[in-house]
Amino acid sequence: MDNAKKLSEISWQDFNDLPLAEKGRYFRGQPQHTLIAQQFSRPQLEGLCTLATKIRRISKRREGANFLRTLLSDKRAMLYFAQPSSRTYLSFNSACQLLGLTTIDVRDSKTSSEVKGESPEDTIRTFSSYADMIIMRHPVGGFAERVAWMLSNTNRTIPVLNAGSGADQHPTQALLDIYTLARSFEEIGGIDGKSVAFVGDLARGRTVRSLAWLLTLYNDVKVYFVAPEQLQIGEDVLELLDAAGMEYEVTSDFASVMPKADALYMTRIQDEWDADGESTTIDTSSFSINAEHMDVLKETAIIMHPLPRRKEISTDVDNDPRAMYWRQMRNGMWARAALILSTFGREDEVDTFYADNELE
Ligand code: CP
Repeated sequence: MDNAKKLSEISWQDFNDLPLAEKGRYFRGQPQHTLIAQQFSRPQLEGLCTLATKIRRISKRREGANFLRTLLSDKRAMLYFAQPSSRTYLSFNSACQLLGLTTIDVRDSKTSSEVKGESPEDTIRTFSSYADMIIMRHPVGGFAERVAWMLSNTNRTIPVLNAGSGADQHPTQALLDIYTLARSFEEIGGIDGKSVAFVGDLARGRTVRSLAWLLTLYNDVKVYFVAPEQLQIGEDVLELLDAAGMEYEVTSDFASVMPKADALYMTRIQDEWDADGESTTIDTSSFSINAEHMDVLKETAIIMHPLPRRKEISTDVDNDPRAMYWRQMRNGMWARAALILSTFGREDEVDTFYADNELE
C-alpha cells in the first residue's frame, strides 16, 4: 500500500504519541497487525464481511470444511488472554480450528514465568518463538500496540491481533458487530442511513468505543449514546466523531430512543474498572429492556449485545426474532476466521473454491 509505514522505522515514543487516525498505516504492510478500530477502511470491512460469508457457507459441507482446514495447517497461533474471556477466546480458537491452525495458549499470567519477574515484553517475545501469530487480550490499554512495535524490532515480526485491550479498544468485536449489522440489514439497504443506540456503561465499554468509530465509515448513520450521566461516553470519542462529521445525540432518555433505533446495542455495567464500588450507587434500572418494551421497537430493529449480559436484557426477549445477540456471538467465529485468513494473505484460495463450487 502506498502510504504504508513500518513500525520498525519509528521510535515507540513517537508512535505512541501519534493520533489514532495516523497509527493505522503502520499496520498495513507485512506483518499485518490488527490493533485499533481506526486502522480499518470501509472497503476492508466489506471485504472481510464477504470473506466471512464465504467461509461460513463453505464450512457447511464436509468437503468445504476439509478444504478450509488445509488453508493454514502450516501455521500456529498463540492465544494469550491475560483477562477473562469466553466468546472472544472460544471464537478465535474455533476460527483457528476451522482454518487448520494449531493453537497454544496462556489464559492466566500466573501460569507463565511472569510470576518469576519476567517482563511482559520478554514474555511475549518468548511466545513469539513458538507461534506465527499472537492473539492477545490484556488489561493495559495500548499494550497490544507496544507488543507489535517491540516484535517489529526483532527477527520474528509476527502479526498481533488485539482481542481486547484495557477499556480502550476491541477492534475484532467491532468487526463482528459490523458483520452482524451488515447481515441483518442486507435486505433493507445495509448499514448506511441507520440509527444505532448504544445503551449502558459507555464510559468504560471498549466495544462501544471501537464500533462507534467504525460506524463513521458508513453514510448518514446516526448514533445515540444512552447512559446515566456518570457512565456516559467519553469526550475523546465524541471528538473523534465530530472530526469525522458523524451525527450523534447524548441522552439518558432511553424510552424516547427505543422507537427510533434500527439497532439497540446494549452493554453491561463494567464494574471491574470501579476504583471503589462506585457504580453500585448508580441507578441503571431504566437502561434495560424486557418483553414489554418490544412493541415500541421497529419491526426491522435488532438488539445486539457484546455479552456477557446481566440484567440489561431480560431473558424473556431471547426468543424475539429481533434478538440478535446469540447470532452476533456466532458471527464472531466467521468474522475472526476471515480476519486470520486475510492476515496471512490467503483469501484468494477461498474465492476460487467458492466460485468453483458454485456456492453463490
Ligand atoms: N464480547 C466479549 O468480548 O466477550 P468475552 O469477554 O466473553 O470474550
